[in-house]
Amino acid sequence: MMRSFLLAGVAALIAAPAMAQEARPTVNLKAPVKTFGRVSFDGRSLMIDGKRTPIWAAEFHPYRLPSPDLWRDVLQKIKASGFNTVTFYFDWSYHSPKQGELDFTGIRDMERAITMAGEEGLYAITRVGPYVNAELARGGFPGWLNNQRARARTDDPEYLKAADEWLAAIDGIVARHQINNGGNVILHQIENELSQTSPAHRRYMDHLYAVTRSYGITVPIFHNDPGRNGNWVPDGSPVPGVVHGPVDMYAFDGYPGGTCTAQGKIARGNGAPDWGYYGIGGAKGGASASPDTPGFMAEIGGGWFDYWGSDGIYACNAVQTGPGYGRLFYGTNFVNGIGLQSVYMGYGGTSWGWLPAPVVFTSYDYGAAIAEDRSLREKALALKPIGGTLAALPEIAAMVPAEKLTPSSDAIRLYHNRSPETDARLILAAHQPGHLTQDTSFTFAADLPDGHYQMPQIRLNGYDAKWIVAGANVAGQRLVYTTSQIQTAQNGLLLMIGRAGEGGRTVLRYSAKPAVKAPDGVAVSWDASRGDLTLDYTHGALSTVEISGGGRPALTLLLGDDAAGGACWDADGVLACGPALLRHARAKGGVLALTGDTVAPAPLRVWAKQTRITWNGAPVAMRPAAGGSWQSIAPIPGPVPIALPALSDWRMAEGTPEAAPTFDDSAWQAIDHRADATLSQKPAGQPTMTMDPYGFHEGDVWYRAHFAGSPDAQRLSLTYGAGGAGMVQVFLDGRLIGQQDLPAAMPRPITTGNITVPMPDAARAPGDHVLSVMARNNGHNWDLTAMDEHKEGRGLIAASLEPLTGPAFAVPMNWRIQGRSGGEDFADRARGTPNNGGQYGERMGWHLPAFDDHAWRATGAALPQGSAGTNWYRTHVTLNVPRGQDATIGLAFGDTAKPRSAAHYRVLIFVNGWNMGQFIAHVGPQRIFPIPEGILNHHGANTIALAVTSDGAPANAPENVRLVTMQNRRGGLEVAQVAAPAGLAPIR
Ligand code: GAL
Repeated sequence: MMRSFLLAGVAALIAAPAMAQEARPTVNLKAPVKTFGRVSFDGRSLMIDGKRTPIWAAEFHPYRLPSPDLWRDVLQKIKASGFNTVTFYFDWSYHSPKQGELDFTGIRDMERAITMAGEEGLYAITRVGPYVNAELARGGFPGWLNNQRARARTDDPEYLKAADEWLAAIDGIVARHQINNGGNVILHQIENELSQTSPAHRRYMDHLYAVTRSYGITVPIFHNDPGRNGNWVPDGSPVPGVVHGPVDMYAFDGYPGGTCTAQGKIARGNGAPDWGYYGIGGAKGGASASPDTPGFMAEIGGGWFDYWGSDGIYACNAVQTGPGYGRLFYGTNFVNGIGLQSVYMGYGGTSWGWLPAPVVFTSYDYGAAIAEDRSLREKALALKPIGGTLAALPEIAAMVPAEKLTPSSDAIRLYHNRSPETDARLILAAHQPGHLTQDTSFTFAADLPDGHYQMPQIRLNGYDAKWIVAGANVAGQRLVYTTSQIQTAQNGLLLMIGRAGEGGRTVLRYSAKPAVKAPDGVAVSWDASRGDLTLDYTHGALSTVEISGGGRPALTLLLGDDAAGGACWDADGVLACGPALLRHARAKGGVLALTGDTVAPAPLRVWAKQTRITWNGAPVAMRPAAGGSWQSIAPIPGPVPIALPALSDWRMAEGTPEAAPTFDDSAWQAIDHRADATLSQKPAGQPTMTMDPYGFHEGDVWYRAHFAGSPDAQRLSLTYGAGGAGMVQVFLDGRLIGQQDLPAAMPRPITTGNITVPMPDAARAPGDHVLSVMARNNGHNWDLTAMDEHKEGRGLIAASLEPLTGPAFAVPMNWRIQGRSGGEDFADRARGTPNNGGQYGERMGWHLPAFDDHAWRATGAALPQGSAGTNWYRTHVTLNVPRGQDATIGLAFGDTAKPRSAAHYRVLIFVNGWNMGQFIAHVGPQRIFPIPEGILNHHGANTIALAVTSDGAPANAPENVRLVTMQNRRGGLEVAQVAAPAGLAPIR
């Protein structure tokens, strides 16, 4: 059976013992081409308009950046980092406050995100769920779905009806933007990581496929298999052990690079796995599960998320999954026949408000190539050559294993692939075993398309890989081979890079001896018998070699190290070196208008036909320079520092009136015995206390109960659900009598808890007493296992006021509940589902800019401690960021060098009414919270409101709060303020 799809050419290469670089027949080279309009594929690659195309994608979640004008900034940076595709997950919950309501306006205008991606020259992959995971509360399920008894992610008609509402809407939007309708969407994902594969799940998947097609999706449909299980592989895969599913392509994910240690140290435990040609094969081998469809990783780790109470690993993860990791792991995937890869995340962003699942705190920086503050990390610069090599040699997407090569060192493994169409080669050199970090020099001999060659000494230093290209037609030249990496190949222009100080060789073929103008340090030799021009050099500052004649068009060959390549950018077919980013190069009437960013004054060197050049609209005086380039006479300007005002004008108010016995809760909903769908079982006979059945799904929720003082009132036992690092506070007659945080510092935190509060004598005194409980819900669980995990209870699950030895629930109590104002009918539809919970100040609009805080106590620069519960602090600050500068300004709390404080308190951070996250001082690790421009007004007035919750002890007072500049560039884009109400609107 397996043999039936063996391809003779590949099979012939298979030697007996399966060493890593030995290929297996994992692909059916005779697989028929399947066509979906302009998108098609066979066993080896995707094709667009019939042309084999590597899909090199970066994931971006527009909902994690609630300032739509900045989406374009991220998309331009993804493009500038060498990607040709962006991958979008959509979050159903973001759009659906209530069953039957879906909102795609303002920050939720996902159509705008897809359109922008197309305008920026990116293909799009759309992943619509209904379930997405993505470290979102409920994995993207809307809050109201938690009240559905139907098991989610099955074929239960009640669930399908809900899912179809969402799919009809989001698929309708996506459908308009498919490449087949003139847009940029090329692939579409249904569900995500559905690891249950029962018949009910198959029927569910069948339903999803059918409705997706009925809603107008015409591009190939896939699912993302969590790891390599061989689940949901297209019908027809002959591989034993796979689970077939209603998909056109098989895709899987993997996070193979490991993460930093808890102490923020690099951990190099893993080599790059072989999940295709060179791997174990079969159902669990990755791409091998589906021989008729091309290798496709819907997610390949580009970092990892971080959890409450860690020491903060994003900066370290960015290095762990840094330049060498990218070359090694993504390169290993490509040579394994995985020609579609999407890096998760390209830009992580911010899980603002109540977006995060319990497994993650506010920052979703992810250690991604583009940091949360939107600056480009070093590793983004190292991704450019990957994109550049793929653009120069798209046939890399569809190569097959070629003759085995033997390196001179045992510490090296060589992968050798060739294109059946063009015979071009990609030879990837990695360490063997793959996690070696040593410095190795090696050579090898190979029969290449242009003859037999002995390579020079090649150095592989550490966790890295070399991408050696041979036998390729690039930039109008015949490239015999190069040990440097191609970053840019345009007509007449080639930019090749390598590690600083390492040697490189490039061999080009000519029909006659060409004229060569090379600087010192580039050794040029000519082999007349072969027609080979060999250049030997050391990678360093950019050097320019000019080659002309020899029967080929003239070539400018630029050679440089990583830093030199990092400063060079390709946009709209123009190469420019010097600035920190080139966004666009648009020619109009003899003028080339360049737009981009600088972080400091920078030289500008441009290869262009035009002699008149502008940079961000200002003319730049240029002079001719080497290799047909133009060089600016003076540097283009960098940014000026930003003067940030101190926050010195605070006012405060107490925000816990619910604790007081006299508080009027008559308008609150009474807790009753209503039906609910929570997984957390309540004690028999007890009422339904969890928040969801009452229409409260996000943030804080209050409970109050009166009881008659009784000798039985000896202790209060509460069972509650609060998500990662969530909490409860318990008040008796206005006094805090108990408080508990759920334990943190676990990647998969405990999300429910019990607290037993001894009751003070007062509770046994006759008369009316009031218990008030505030529960902070730090997110509903995701549903990773498809077992309805998201339905774990939140808020109180049970409350028993009881004697120490007597029966539970001995003292009768009638509870009431209050969460977000209006529940599912909340007023602030502009800020939407993630913005508010049920704090008193939120219900009163204290977080909103228009609230008049004049009557509050002025405290100057200090944030004095208030009483137990939640205290609110407000201040107003006017910013004046220089026009034409793109900065990210954040709010910093206390000593940012430490992951957590000695003081115990937590803060909900509102800026201009937007909930930009939660600082938990004693848990950490995040202490700086970026506020994107558009939420923060860079050119005017801002209101900051902090809701600080603590036990009121002097030692637990809030620490110093200040504005900090997280990144500052000259350039950027115009950003409009995001429209949202300044004050409270009536509840709907
Ligand atoms: C994947 C999942 C994503 C996200 C990721 C980790 O397995 O598909 O949604 O959760 O893990 O960040």
